[in-house]
Amino acid sequence: MRKPGILITGAGGEIGHGLVARLAGAGRPIITLDVSALDGALAPLVSREFTGSITDASLLDRMLAEFEVDRVFHLAALLSTRSEFAPISAHEVNVDGTLRMLEFAQRQGESHGRPVLFVYPSSIAAYGLPDLATKRRAGRVTEDEYLQPTTMYGCNKLYCEQLGRYYSRHYKQLSAGAAPRVDFRSVRFPGLISAVTVPSGGTSDYAPEMIHAAARGAAYECFVRPDTTIPLMAMPDAIEALLRLAEVPRPQLQRTAYNLAAFNPSAGELRDLVVGLFPQASVAFRVDAKRQGILDTWPMDVDDSAARRDWGFAPAYGLQRALHEYLIPTIVPRGRG
Ligand code: SER
Repeated sequence: MRKPGILITGAGGEIGHGLVARLAGAGRPIITLDVSALDGALAPLVSREFTGSITDASLLDRMLAEFEVDRVFHLAALLSTRSEFAPISAHEVNVDGTLRMLEFAQRQGESHGRPVLFVYPSSIAAYGLPDLATKRRAGRVTEDEYLQPTTMYGCNKLYCEQLGRYYSRHYKQLSAGAAPRVDFRSVRFPGLISAVTVPSGGTSDYAPEMIHAAARGAAYECFVRPDTTIPLMAMPDAIEALLRLAEVPRPQLQRTAYNLAAFNPSAGELRDLVVGLFPQASVAFRVDAKRQGILDTWPMDVDDSAARRDWGFAPAYGLQRALHEYLIPTIVPRGRG
């Protein structure tokens, strides 16, 4: 008898931290797959921890033989800045790895006869606006506009949204007896800000780095111009969105990829807020022209009305509430501890 469970890849990452903590104790065993061992706070929360790569076919075969999985949260990825330095590795992890996970889900579904829910975080990086004037003019973009990403990571995310749609709706459409067994659902996350972890290798990292540095009373050099504006979101809303999307009856979903938005201060507005809150903090701007160039292609805001309509997405945290009720109370005591 195989053991039942929910699989989380990339469980040791920023989203994984929040998701594992939320799902632990909810009654369903959690299985994790991450390239690094989980930290001491997370490891006791999971039933079985696999340390390895999503690109390791024999490891996935072993997992298939041992576990009956009906839900996959596929979080493992190389983020956008890191991916630009290693595009081949990015493609291997972000695309080949996702393909293997979709195939894993399909084979799981074939083995137990039920669709396997596959929840996938796509990204604001899926967009690519051609220049700043267009970015300013475009405002809130819908899911189907400006899909010409300039980064390897953005290309990977956009393509994997399509792969997921294929596995969900058209898998082996010419083969007799084959049927899709994957129920793929994805969200395009804005830049995420966690109070518990700091990101590494992303391009939206200036926002969480600035807040964490300020909370420690440390000086921070922001690598983007003060007018830089992209959508951002507090991590609890991101976790809630993944869980809510996973619960919606499938007929309600008119799309396989949904925009999400919460707040979108410019880097300068964020600086003013955090320096106001932490008087010992200081933020200087020292622009990295290349990372700036990437952010200039990401929209200022996104239209998330499809997510609100189809599955009731409604973020709990605006910027003020995120700072006062989540980030500051959580970061500051940890910093002291
Ligand atoms: N936060 C991510 C990054 O900057 C975007 O998905 O790469």
